[in-house]
Amino acid sequence: MGDAENGKSLFMKMCAMCHTSNKDGKHRVGPNLFGIVGKKCGTSPGFTYTDSMKNKGIVWDEKNLNEYLEFPKQFIPGTRMVFTGIKKPKDRQDLIAYLTTLK
Ligand code: HEC
Repeated sequence: MGDAENGKSLFMKMCAMCHTSNKDGKHRVGPNLFGIVGKKCGTSPGFTYTDSMKNKGIVWDEKNLNEYLEFPKQFIPGTRMVFTGIKKPKDRQDLIAYLTTLK
């Protein structure tokens, strides 16, 4: 099981400049991520996604978030999310544990 507390501090360091995580949070460069686990990709109202993200057609779960966060541009070629990826499996696990608390 991931450590959601550590995941939260990783989120603040690596994601918060582009993403908010609170309910009804604003979109920044990236979409608000409240409720992201279990949600269909590319569907937050009011955010303009790339076609690549919209057409991926997946529901975010722990498995595909893990792949996406390891290497975003490999999992979704053409994504506009400028993020190189998180190399450490434990960091991804903690971050995803935090994302699952956003509901
Ligand atoms: C430099 C800005 C930036 C950073 C840093 C960033 N993202 Fe993103 N993120 C984006 C953008 C832009 C999109 C929309 C991509 C698209 O439409 O192709 C996105 C999309 C996403 C999505 C899909 C959202 C949806 O509604 O389907 C997830 C999940 C996500 N990011 C998670 C993260 C996490 C977790 C981190 C930190 C590890 C992170 N991002 C770091 C800019 C960023």
